[in-house]
Amino acid sequence: MKYDQARWQREDEDRYEPLLSEKDGERVDVDDAPLPDDLTRDSLDLPEISEPELARHYTRLSQMNYGVDSGPYPLGSCTMKYNPKFTEDVAALPGAQVHPDRSAESVQGTLELMHGLQDYLARIGGMDAVSLQPPAGAAGEFTGILVAKAYHEANGEGHRDEIIVPDSAHGTNFASAAMGGYDVVELPSGDDGRVDLDALEAAAGEDTALFMLTNPNTLGLFERDIEEIADVVHDVGGLLYYDGANLNALLGQARPGDMGFDIMHYNVHKTFATPHGGGGPGAGPVGVVSDLAEFLPAPRVRETENGYERFDPENTIGKVHGFAGNWLVLVKTYAYIARLGDAGLADASAKAVLNANYLAEQIDYEVPHGPFHHEFVASAGDQDAADVAKRMLDYGVHPPTTKWPEIVPEALMTEPTEVENRETLDQLAEAFNAVAREDEDALADAPQRTTAKRIDQADAARNLRLSWQSLDE
Ligand SMILES: Cc1ncc(COP(=O)(O)O)c(C=O)c1O
Repeated sequence: MKYDQARWQREDEDRYEPLLSEKDGERVDVDDAPLPDDLTRDSLDLPEISEPELARHYTRLSQMNYGVDSGPYPLGSCTMKYNPKFTEDVAALPGAQVHPDRSAESVQGTLELMHGLQDYLARIGGMDAVSLQPPAGAAGEFTGILVAKAYHEANGEGHRDEIIVPDSAHGTNFASAAMGGYDVVELPSGDDGRVDLDALEAAAGEDTALFMLTNPNTLGLFERDIEEIADVVHDVGGLLYYDGANLNALLGQARPGDMGFDIMHYNVHKTFATPHGGGGPGAGPVGVVSDLAEFLPAPRVRETENGYERFDPENTIGKVHGFAGNWLVLVKTYAYIARLGDAGLADASAKAVLNANYLAEQIDYEVPHGPFHHEFVASAGDQDAADVAKRMLDYGVHPPTTKWPEIVPEALMTEPTEVENRETLDQLAEAFNAVAREDEDALADAPQRTTAKRIDQADAARNLRLSWQSLDE
């Protein structure tokens, strides 16, 4: 179909014309209303400062922060990898700025990209159909659970009310299962940190709706028995869910669909390259095997002989987000996959695995289990893992995830990601090893060299202070 920009612009104008009114020659879509006096610029008590003062203020603020653009950020499981800036450029292209309510005919390029991304993700995961709607990995889990529920109900199996989750799983797995209305059955890991097949056989039965698993698991260990695991779950009529948080270890090497998984989500910020979100816009597309496709959230995008169109899957669970999901995050995901290609993706996962294994070899803390994929979990032993983390900040690096998974005492869960070079990995190892040699006092007083010292982390994350406050307040 030929893209006729002028025509679609006219169509949009016709559609919105009745909603618009004239003001000073400009068309606006809201009526005039007086501004409250206390919100006008004149009433604001703003400081008068010069440009250099302003520039220094914001530069100083930025230096108080630590991010992937400042240094290594080996936060295990969270996968804080560097997001290449070209994806931002792509998302900033004028063609990406489209209103989600526009007619399908007028946004064929947008729909083609979404269709292409559905295909990319399906191919990477070994799935048959993908929905781009969920806005985060956890939202993808919840969506996948609702899809599984709809599938079981449609097959007269609505009595299945249990979801099995390994004790090493991320907290969102337990939470999503409970939010979906299921009883959560926690599965203890075997001595090797992997799924214990006997325990799984004992837990699985006619009430099992789903078994949620990530592979490699949160210890960075590949579940070698994955085919037997899939058989155990399928033999009792359950479905196997893949938590895609660790898919960056498998890209181009192996696919969840080929291992027997029926449903999966993709954490696009961990596997590809989009910002992690911090509660902000993210994306957690969900993929399924063909039997489950009819239940996916609406809308999806398909190709017809007249171009691309949105459609509602036959027995859709409905919508889990506005419109088609967080569109610009999806644009960045598409750009990253298209730029790297099959070989680039396989190379990224190979380097993620190499970096984790290299770093695990360099550090003096005990690292139980192995061999690893993209992350490993060391034990801080007699030290408190949270203290170790605070002290590492003094050595100028971001610490790993701590105290989880609980099956490793005083866990230091470390994921260097594929983007770090050998010098940076050595710098990380030096920080680990320097802290490992230190005594309790040095650790208890840490951090000494950061702007904020020990803060209440839960409070700081939940009650953000977004404006300047004096220290006495
Ligand atoms: C193993 C695992 N599963 C699920 C999630 C949830 O993903 P998201 O942060 O995209 O909601 C995470 C997040 O770190 C994770 O590590």
